[in-house]
Amino acid sequence: MLLYKNEAELRIAAVDTAFRRDVLNGLAARPRSIPARWFYNRTGSELFEAITTLPEYYVTRTERSLLSSAACEIAELTGRGRAIIEFGSGCSTKTPILLSAVRPAAYVPIDVSKEILWASAERISQSFPDLPIYPLEVDFTQPLRLPGPVASTPTLGFFPGSTIGNLLVPQAVDLLRSMAAALGSDSMLLIGVDQVKDADILLPAYNDAQGVTAAFNLNLLRRINAELEGSVPVDAFRHVAYWNDSEARVEMHLEAVRTVQFEVAGRRFAMAKGETIHTENSLKYGPQDARVLLQAGGWSPIADWSDQHGLFSLILAIEGPPPTATCFHRQPGLPWSKGMQ
Ligand code: TRP
Repeated sequence: MLLYKNEAELRIAAVDTAFRRDVLNGLAARPRSIPARWFYNRTGSELFEAITTLPEYYVTRTERSLLSSAACEIAELTGRGRAIIEFGSGCSTKTPILLSAVRPAAYVPIDVSKEILWASAERISQSFPDLPIYPLEVDFTQPLRLPGPVASTPTLGFFPGSTIGNLLVPQAVDLLRSMAAALGSDSMLLIGVDQVKDADILLPAYNDAQGVTAAFNLNLLRRINAELEGSVPVDAFRHVAYWNDSEARVEMHLEAVRTVQFEVAGRRFAMAKGETIHTENSLKYGPQDARVLLQAGGWSPIADWSDQHGLFSLILAIEGPPPTATCFHRQPGLPWSKGMQ
């Protein structure tokens, strides 16, 4: 049941302005960088979906299987009848697992990519015909107001895919805090957090053999050319991903393979061979780090689930300080689970 049409048309002009501003400022800055949210036009969202099925990209399949095996426990801890608010819902491929287990009162998918948002909402409404769905086409890093009918319902935020890792720590804390404010007191949050691990596993996930991640990164330049009257020579750039150990993050860049000159929206830019545009960070957290991050963001973790190799974690948290006599729930047998809380 798709119920809510928002003011999508009015927002298109605002998106254009913000894209232009971020690209022009980002190309003029040193080091050059463009915020990752601009990856996700239609082609970008499709390429990202292709990344999620790559053999090297362990994130999506690990998170999905964690979600499937933990779904009943999650439903017990959340109870039924909450509204599920999904941040960066994309194709909503993992959502049905959660919807089936938690039986929410409503579903609010939030994404910046209009086409993907509405197509996914349509698909979910076919599988869950009685579920009220209120898609929100907004940038979830901006302050958020929930649709009227959901505003007084207890909520469960769902923030999968380790998207939190695409923000630097201060921004991640701000986002978690604004999620707590938007979701309200007594809300809960189920968040997927990718773990620190060996570079041999980590790097191929961001530089796959088929070159899908490279195409995804380079698509940003194509989008600039198409939407901002750009003349960026896409073939003069290559995708680069490396592990920045001191910041515990994978960094993605677009590197000029030769000296280049181009225009964007009437402004001229020149880049020397080897210079890069920083396009993405993917921060990785240890299990304790992720819980500390959530606490800094105004959430108290009450349970977590991780795969046997410790690749990825799903954490369930409640808004606010920990309730007295919390019993932290964790599956037994993980090496790092001993002696915790
Ligand atoms: N949240 C995803 C991650 O950090 C986003 C992502 C995966 C991504 N692969 C990418 C972003 C490649 C840019 C390029 O894993």
